[in-house]
Amino acid sequence: MSVRITPRRVVVTALALMAAGIAIAWSGIINIGASTGHWAITDWFLHWSMRNTVRTYAYLTVDAPAIDDDGLVAAAGHFAATCAACHGAPGERASPVMQASTPNAPDLALTADTWKDRELFWIIKHGIKFTPMPAWPALDRDDEVRRMAAFVRRLPTMTPERYRALAYGPGRIAGGEPQRLDDALPDCERCHADDGRGQADIPVLAGQKPAYLFAALVAFASRERSSGVMNAAAARMDPAAMRALADHYAGLPGLTESTMPASDVETTGSSSSAERIMAKGLPAIDLPACSKCHATGKRPDYPRLSGQKPEYLAARLRRWHGDPGVVDARKDPDTMPMIARRIPEHMIEPLARRLAQR
Ligand code: HEC
Ligand code: HEC
Ligand code: HEC
Repeated sequence: MSVRITPRRVVVTALALMAAGIAIAWSGIINIGASTGHWAITDWFLHWSMRNTVRTYAYLTVDAPAIDDDGLVAAAGHFAATCAACHGAPGERASPVMQASTPNAPDLALTADTWKDRELFWIIKHGIKFTPMPAWPALDRDDEVRRMAAFVRRLPTMTPERYRALAYGPGRIAGGEPQRLDDALPDCERCHADDGRGQADIPVLAGQKPAYLFAALVAFASRERSSGVMNAAAARMDPAAMRALADHYAGLPGLTESTMPASDVETTGSSSSAERIMAKGLPAIDLPACSKCHATGKRPDYPRLSGQKPEYLAARLRRWHGDPGVVDARKDPDTMPMIARRIPEHMIEPLARRLAQR
């Protein structure tokens, strides 16, 4: 069978396709969430057309020279303050928050060599629509853009030391990551308060064991322990500052060694079975006694719980808890998550309240 193409049929088909497009957009099924990323083919297509646009516009609109090597200090300082959060920099991680965008910002040390000078200039001046990449806020300052393009051009061979010297000069905050306690502390105190006792929805750090605090910061920075808020705060810290912060908070009065019930408790009812779980666990479901690790004098990386906010303890147990019937291979096999998944749901609140008691 052959179909004859008439002007009327062309118009009807075009209208039908438009109506179908509008219907799909109206239905809302196209997922615009940044969390899902792009399909590989969409990603390829968008970048292919982006590169073509940059090539054409850079060729038509950018005059040589497109880079200027004489302003590296200003460019590096500005890069550290505004670009590095998204792109990272030599010796510095990008912020985990910024890396969660779609598309996310590439490491320019790896991609700068794929662009010509005038293309870098065009991108830095005009930004990229529908992505987080901003335009230069002063469009009449091509001189600034040329200096920034020259700086980006050098990123592939720039050492962290050279970057630090350019971007931070002789200042106290080396590498953008505070190394000294005095420089690091104000950021933490916004949330954890100057006495380290937290606020309504913020846990107590004061009096916690230093090894546990340090391990928690390292785990937040590497995102092994997940928290959008603390991943970002810890990623800003140098390891020396983490160590100093852990010692500082450990030295303030706050949390204390737990007083655990004696192992011969024999009681019933829900708060008293919290006592029993702490002292003896529930052998029938392989739940170990909490006192095995959380009583006085145990390993330095087992946290103190006495004096902590009960809501925070319960929330941590809940997040580890999940559905006890499901063995989730994606969850890490650490001890505490495995233990938490065995705690009966109705025991979480009473246990958290009892553990937090002094
Ligand atoms: C809010 C986050 C954000 C900030 C701030 C930001 N960028 Fe970007 N940038 C991006 C993203 C995302 C892309 C990738 C866009 C894409 O994939 O099409 C990008 C792309 C680029 C590219 C092209 C690289 C490539 O290979 O695709 C250059 C060059 C660049 N940015 C330079 C800079 C400079 C210089 C600054 C500071 C003046 C800066 N960016 C600030 C998010 C950011
Ligand atoms: C914007 C608020 C905010 C800032 C800034 C912040 N924190 Fe936190 N911090 C939190 C919250 C909320 C939690 C609880 C995280 C969770 O739910 O896992 C937390 C948890 C922690 C923990 C784990 C406590 C435990 O008992 O496991 C440590 C350690 C910590 N923060 C240290 C710091 C340090 C050091 C700084 C400064 C570099 C800092 N925080 C900055 C909000 C903040
Ligand atoms: C084998 C040792 C061990 C046993 C037994 C144990 N814990 Fe833990 N617990 C840990 C470790 C290690 C951590 C730190 C985990 C982390 O932060 O990733 C922890 C952390 C916690 C926390 C979070 C503390 C904070 O500040 O964020 C709570 C709440 C907790 N345990 C409750 C319990 C309860 C309830 C029991 C008894 C049912 C128990 N634990 C038994 C080792 C143990």
